[in-house]
Amino acid sequence: MKVTVVGAGAVGASCAEYIAIKNFASEVVLLDIKEGYAEGKAMDLMQCASLNGFDTKITGITNDYSKTANSDICVITSGIPRKPGMTREELIGINAGIVKSVTTSLVEHSPNTVLIVVSNPMDTMTYLTHKATKLPKNRIIGMGGALDSARFKYRLAEALEAPISDVDGMVIGGHSDTGMVPLIAHATRNSVKVSEFLSQERLQQVAEDTKVGGATLTKLLGTSAWYAPGAAVSALVQAIACDQKKMFPCSTMLEGDYNLNDICIGVPVIIGRNGIERIVDIELSDAEKAHMQASAEGVRKTNDLLEL
Ligand code: LAC
Repeated sequence: MKVTVVGAGAVGASCAEYIAIKNFASEVVLLDIKEGYAEGKAMDLMQCASLNGFDTKITGITNDYSKTANSDICVITSGIPRKPGMTREELIGINAGIVKSVTTSLVEHSPNTVLIVVSNPMDTMTYLTHKATKLPKNRIIGMGGALDSARFKYRLAEALEAPISDVDGMVIGGHSDTGMVPLIAHATRNSVKVSEFLSQERLQQVAEDTKVGGATLTKLLGTSAWYAPGAAVSALVQAIACDQKKMFPCSTMLEGDYNLNDICIGVPVIIGRNGIERIVDIELSDAEKAHMQASAEGVRKTNDLLEL
């Protein structure tokens, strides 16, 4: 199993580290545009192998896509991250050009790959990847919902004063501060609805804290987060590599699902060896449906800025 991660910045390197530590891939290629940078990160990570007990071989490459040939899975983290006070949408001008050229080069050398798009604004970059590569829709996955759901579970556990392993919940919709739809009514603590433990007011606070999860970290760190984004990507990569058929909310091309068409936005999907194996249609309340439609409007506005 060969995995390529493009972008050896904080998210890409953390993603490579988590993939290696879980020891399911034979090879991870880390590629960056900055001379020697990916080579340095790869060497540093390889020097963890004997200490952390993994056999995955990590190689660093400067901009030579021929070295990514025949990757089973490619992760795109390239582009600039946001600075405090910026929205993910503001990154589109620079990141669209980068994502278009990176995805086309990847597919040229790995025509059978599954692509995972992480670069922001993620839903729009996933849509752009479809238009640029024309790969079958199961082979393009936008990573946002897995991360947003992990942040939702963190906030729920905090409010419940419970261990995170007791908590389950999902965030669908766009990967943006206003677009996320945390499914509060579906969230549980050991199969019991969280509304049995927390007031509606507290749950609204959990939802709000979840939606600005990335912005809160950007303010604290001065750049966007990397551990949880890296962990979320590695969970998707593992689900594909090990054909786990796990359910995550991911950005995928919708063709009538959730009453939406020609848009990539987060909905629950089953992830296995073929990438997105199935979209899971769950029953939403009228309020959740309205929230989802409003979220889609936001994503469409950003998509309209693309020069396709
Ligand atoms: C975040 C970035 C990865 O939410 O979008 O941290």
